[in-house]
Amino acid sequence: MTSSQIQHRLTEYFRSAYGTDCDLLARAPGRVEFIGNHTDYNGGLVMGAAIDRSIFAAVRKRDDAALRFASEFSPERPERRLDDLSKFDGEQSWANYPLGVFATLLNEGLRTENGFDLALASDLPAGAGLSSSAALETGVGLALASLYGLEISKADLVRIGRAVENDFLGVPTGPLDQSCSGFGERNQLVFIDCRTLNVELVPFPAECRIHIFNSGISHALVDSLYSKRHDECREALRLLRQNQSDLEHLADAPESALDALPSDTPADVIKRARHVIRENQRVLTTRTALTEGDIERTGRLLIESHESSRTLFENSCPELDTLVEILAETPHVHGARLSGGGFGGTVIALTSEAFGADETRRVQDAYEKAHGRRLETLACNVADGAELLPTD
Ligand code: GLA
Repeated sequence: MTSSQIQHRLTEYFRSAYGTDCDLLARAPGRVEFIGNHTDYNGGLVMGAAIDRSIFAAVRKRDDAALRFASEFSPERPERRLDDLSKFDGEQSWANYPLGVFATLLNEGLRTENGFDLALASDLPAGAGLSSSAALETGVGLALASLYGLEISKADLVRIGRAVENDFLGVPTGPLDQSCSGFGERNQLVFIDCRTLNVELVPFPAECRIHIFNSGISHALVDSLYSKRHDECREALRLLRQNQSDLEHLADAPESALDALPSDTPADVIKRARHVIRENQRVLTTRTALTEGDIERTGRLLIESHESSRTLFENSCPELDTLVEILAETPHVHGARLSGGGFGGTVIALTSEAFGADETRRVQDAYEKAHGRRLETLACNVADGAELLPTD
C-alpha cells in the first residue's frame, strides 16, 4: 500500500471514529540501526536510517478539554482530560506514547484549554525492532506541535520523543531512533554524534539494499535487560572517572584506560565498556569505508559489530547469531548484524540489488530448519524522515 493510500485510509478512519474531518496529518518513519550498538546513550557515534514504513497521525483540535485517542490497530478508545494526564495500562497502554508527547509539550511551555482527537494508522510493523514507538512519538510530536501552532525543529522533535521514553515511560534510551525518524532522508544514512546531537548525512550506496529479518524472538524482560546494560555502562564510566575525572562519556574513553581499572572491577562491566569503545571507533571507520565506496569493508564492519555485541555486550541470542551466520554465507550479502536493543528482535543485512526472492527463501528455510520458526522479512528503502502531509 502506498503512503497516499494509507493517508486516505486514515482520513476515513478519523471521520468514522470522530464523526468529523481531521485538521492535519503527519507521517514519521521507522528506522534501522545501521551500525553503533548501544553507543548512543554513552555519548558515542551511531549510524541509522529512516525506512519507507511509517506511522501516520491525524489530529483535530477540540473545543473542550478532552484528549481522545484511536488507532486502527486497537478496539480501545482511551481518553484523558487536560487536567489528568495519568498513564494508561494494559490494552490501552499504546496511547501512552501520544499522551507522553502531549505531556512533554505542556512541560515545555505549551498553554492551551483545548484538547484534541487523534487517530493513528501505520504500515510499520510494531514489535519488529524498527522503532515504531519512536516513529509514533516523532509523528505525533510533529502533528500536535503544528496543531497548537508551535515552531518545532527536527532537533526539538528528537528531544521531545526521547523525553517521552526517558521521563514519561522511564526507558533510558538514547537519541538514535528519533534522530533517524526526524532527520532521515532518502538514500542517506543518518550519522549522529550523540555527545553534541549533531547530525550528518552519509550517502547510502546506490547499488545496495537493506533487508530486515525479524527473528520473532521478543524477550519478556527486554526493557529490564536494556536498563541493566545501561547501568553497567554507567558503572564503567563511574569507575573510569576515578582515574580521569573529566571523562564525560564512556564512548570517549581510550580502550587502554580499561587496563587501569581496579582489579575487583566486574568482568561484565569491562566487557560492556570495551564493546562501546570499540563500536564507537567502528562507526567512524564505517563512515570512512562508505565515503570511499568500500562496500566489502562496510559489510565486514557490520559482521564485526555483531560479533562484539555477541561476545562483549552479550545482547544477542542464538536465533540472531544463526541469522547472521546464515546471511554471511548467502550470495549477494555484504554483511549482517543485530540492529537495535538486541535480546531478540531484528537482524539487518546489507545486500547488493541482486539479493532477491531466492536468497530470501534460502535464509528463511535455513532459519526454520535451525529454530523451527518462520522468519518475517522486509526489503526496505532508505527513506525520508517525518513530514506534515496534505489532508485530502
Ligand atoms: C534501542 C534504543 C536506542 C539504542 C539501541 C541500541 O533501539 O531505543 O536508543 O540504544 O537500542 O543501540
